[in-house]
Amino acid sequence: MGFIDYEVDGAVGIITINRPKALNALNEDVLNELEQAFDAVDLSVVRCLILTGAGEKSFVAGADIGAMSTMTKAEGTAFGKKGNDIFLKIEKFPIPVIAAINGFALGGGCEISMSCDIRICSENALFGQPEVGLGITPGFGGTQRLARLVGAGMAKQLIYTARNIDAAEAKRIGLVNEVYPLADLMPAAKKMAAGIAGNAPIAVRACKKAINEGLQVSIDEGVAIEEELFGNCFESYDQREGMANFLRKKDDPKKVRKVAFKNE
Ligand code: CAA
Repeated sequence: MGFIDYEVDGAVGIITINRPKALNALNEDVLNELEQAFDAVDLSVVRCLILTGAGEKSFVAGADIGAMSTMTKAEGTAFGKKGNDIFLKIEKFPIPVIAAINGFALGGGCEISMSCDIRICSENALFGQPEVGLGITPGFGGTQRLARLVGAGMAKQLIYTARNIDAAEAKRIGLVNEVYPLADLMPAAKKMAAGIAGNAPIAVRACKKAINEGLQVSIDEGVAIEEELFGNCFESYDQREGMANFLRKKDDPKKVRKVAFKNE
């Protein structure tokens, strides 16, 4: 692939958007390759993904402004749909995706991070939805996900003013969970991903599904979704082994060991 790097480290997959000449901006080719990269993840091995940008300056500097500058209405609509379809794929991807935001996360860059489950960033990260300064709306889900993440009032302020915010402010408003010195970002992302990957994968996947689907419906429907997924766990090796291990520990603390969950 020309614009996407993919590596697997144990049960953690790392997808890197790599278009340094344009600060990893998203054009049609980058979006296509990104989709192919997600489609190619081997879910029998990989239990958690990290999404990041190449280099030390930019996560993703947005959708490609040069490419958009000549689009017709139909082309603009199709480009928005392409981005939205792929970002929905990331949001609904069966395993957790951590965005390791290593610099600019503007426009489509902020939007792709918001389609991930968890956002952590480096101190030099910069977030914003600058689209109204370019004569467009956010087009890859920004109006929807920013409002859901930080509340409608704050999302409206950021989007209407097109003001960028630094990492500390992004943390203050709940857009990112943690901020690290740049050199510590990937080690922290890998540690978090490995921790997630070490937990029962069926249960982790079910948690993602329950949270995502529950947020779209009433609390009554949400808890019904949880009930079904909770019940399903009781057919798994992971539940039997996880609970048996807890009981073994009570019998004899020397028998404490890390459970090797099996994804079955
Ligand atoms: N699209 C295309 N190219 C981009 C780009 C983008 N979004 N962002 C940066 N680049 C390119 C620049 O054109 C430049 O290319 P050349 O060297 O060929 O001139 C290269 O990346 C380096 O950029 P700068 O020289 O501008 O670097 P800088 O450090 O001075 O500034 C920056 C960095 C503040 C991120 C600045 O590049 C910038 O403001 N970029 C645009 C950010 C933006 O507005 N993003 C939102 C796009 S709209 C969108 O995303 C719509 C949507 O919701 C789908």
